[in-house]
Amino acid sequence: MDRKFILTAFGYAILGLLLGIYMAASKNPTQHVTHAHFMLIGFLLSFIYGLCHKLWLNNSTSKLAIVQFYVHQLGAVTVLIGLFLYYGRFVSLEAIDPLLGISSIAVFIALVLMKIEFIRCTRTNNQ
Ligand code: HEM
Ligand code: HEM
Repeated sequence: MDRKFILTAFGYAILGLLLGIYMAASKNPTQHVTHAHFMLIGFLLSFIYGLCHKLWLNNSTSKLAIVQFYVHQLGAVTVLIGLFLYYGRFVSLEAIDPLLGISSIAVFIALVLMKIEFIRCTRTNNQ
């Protein structure tokens, strides 16, 4: 599971940095929130989850670990698409609000699931 998380983290980082370079080159920072969240929800959070698997969770492939992975990815991709469409002025806030709301909750649920995984695993290992 660590490999999956780290690989997706680098994927978000590549897209996020490309957006950052585009903003810097075009002197047009309108997508700075999208860029920030590519780097933070996409890269940073996925990377941290990958490290948790490597360092504490014994690279668990339990059902919970798999569900946590996909809930995070689905939430992250949807938040990022939503922010990109909104800050690029492709859609109105009213139109994108429900999608952003649901996907934010998915990112949040994945965070809670990671905490549960962490508690379960470190308790079992008596760490
Ligand atoms: C190739 C490297 C990067 C470039 C060219 C770049 C470019 C930019 C630009 C142009 C902005 C908008 C600034 C403005 O509002 O005028 C920005 C904002 C931001 N960047 Fe980057 N960035 C890079 C790497 C990173 C990395 C590695 C991270 C985090 C891991 C990051 C996190 C952020 C955040 C959080 C903001 C929002 C700051 C704010 O406006 O409140 N960036 N970046
Ligand atoms: C759960 C989904 C999330 C959503 C929908 C979301 C949405 C937003 C929005 C709408 C803003 C305000 C932008 C503005 O100034 O108008 C913002 C700012 C910010 N968020 Fe998030 N956020 C989320 C998660 C996170 C996470 C997990 C982190 C950090 C790990 C984070 C870090 C930041 C930072 C640093 C800013 C200020 C950067 C800027 O102004 O560009 N956010 N977020």
